Amino acid sequence: MSWLEYNKKINKTAQGPKLVPKESKPLVVVPSQQDEGRENRLYEVKRRVHHCLLERLDLSQLEELDEKLRAKEIRQAIGMLLEEEKEPLNMRERARLAREMEFEILGLGPLEPLLLDPAISDILVNRYNQVYVERKGCLELTDVRFQDNDHLLKIINKIVSNVGRRIDESVPMVDARLPDGSRVNAIISPLTLDGPMLSIRRFSVQRPSLEDLIDKGSLTAEIGETLKAIAVSKLNVLISGGTGAGKTTLLNILSGYIPATERIITIEDSAELQLQQEHVCRLETRPANIEGKGEVSQRDLVKNCLRMRPDRVIVGEVRGAEVIDMLTAMNTGHEGSMTTVHANTPRDALLRLETMISLSGVSIQEKAMRQMISSSIDVVIQLVRLSDGVRRMSAMSEITGMESGVISMQDIFVFERQGIDEQGKILGRFVATGVRPRFVERCRLFGAPLPDGIFVPPTRPLGRF
Ligand SMILES: Nc1ncnc2c1ncn2[C@@H]1O[C@H](COP(=O)(O)OP(=O)(O)O)[C@@H](O)[C@H]1O
Ligand SMILES: [Mg+2]
Repeated sequence: MSWLEYNKKINKTAQGPKLVPKESKPLVVVPSQQDEGRENRLYEVKRRVHHCLLERLDLSQLEELDEKLRAKEIRQAIGMLLEEEKEPLNMRERARLAREMEFEILGLGPLEPLLLDPAISDILVNRYNQVYVERKGCLELTDVRFQDNDHLLKIINKIVSNVGRRIDESVPMVDARLPDGSRVNAIISPLTLDGPMLSIRRFSVQRPSLEDLIDKGSLTAEIGETLKAIAVSKLNVLISGGTGAGKTTLLNILSGYIPATERIITIEDSAELQLQQEHVCRLETRPANIEGKGEVSQRDLVKNCLRMRPDRVIVGEVRGAEVIDMLTAMNTGHEGSMTTVHANTPRDALLRLETMISLSGVSIQEKAMRQMISSSIDVVIQLVRLSDGVRRMSAMSEITGMESGVISMQDIFVFERQGIDEQGKILGRFVATGVRPRFVERCRLFGAPLPDGIFVPPTRPLGRF
């Protein structure tokens, strides 16, 4: 039978099961383990149908169809083949098999229902038969399973090959990205002992806004106002914090307040930022290939981007030698640039920058190095994730210059810790230190005036409630 004839025939058959689940309704594909015999039989059915499908459908012709139509074709073909199946299936089983098979062919198999669930923020596949997800900040074990290690590896291959990367024994770990922007890391044997592992961090599902951060108690409305003014008035910002402290999230929010008239260039190791402006050019580094060639580093991209006439340069995270080019850019006409760094205090962040400069191979004296940092960066924002799991801005500090060889900084806002309650929640409050930042005048000139009142410290003395 030709593909066309086949097509006509299946078009006459009843519509296949509806596959798209209702939004936010968690969907679990793989059933309980109680009925293992039945499961194995269903698995056999799936294999047979899959086999027939590949035999009968001309996949190369299907490739030419657009996505929706292709999905429809495949859905209908699966529906028909399942009807022809000799193994008696009840309605639920049939719908389930059809759904799973469509996920296998068109998507990422057992991961697909998890990806459709907007409440899930992280998907962690530890083994083919152990998958955890994070929902509302808590990890939970799901009953999602892959058939075996090979099946899991096949899905991993599908993900990494989509972004032009590869994974095998010679390159056993790789970072990739899903079409929706989620970040993926895969690592396989010999580096793992129990088969392939996959970690998906879904930035796309939760894109907190400044208001969300205020609601969550990460900062206050006054701090939010100051942040907006900082972004508008082209101050150079360094966001500092540990892993998962919310640096990228804040960078994303902050860059959202850059006026739409400016040309923004973003540089990242693995694209995470999702700027809403029209005029954004996104660059991403490339790792070396297996022969160790072809690497394009963040430093190369920063250098290159300066020839692309940016108004603002945003580097996802400074990690190495690119720091010099980044600081130079901040100093020479690309004000309002922003980046993040992995450090625990604002002082520590500056020290990290110094270390990165000294390791970059450019010989430069300590004093000149500090001069460079103090004249480039205007504001350091420190984020922390405290023991109660809440991410907070612990300090906003302004860099004011150099004094006897040391960079001088003054805190504008700090989070004042007061104690801890019985549930382990950290008690405290955000306070203005009473320092009126020097950038206030600049903000006014840029049309983002800040009322003096927000820098007045609370009447209750600091350190007491
Ligand atoms: N203020 C916040 N409150 C609650 N969750 C947050 C906050 N900021 C970030 N997150 C969440 O924390 C996770 C890690 O954030 P991310 O910005 O990637 O951290 P980092 O870049 O510091 O490693 C993400 O899932 C993000 O949605
Ligand atoms: Mg980050």
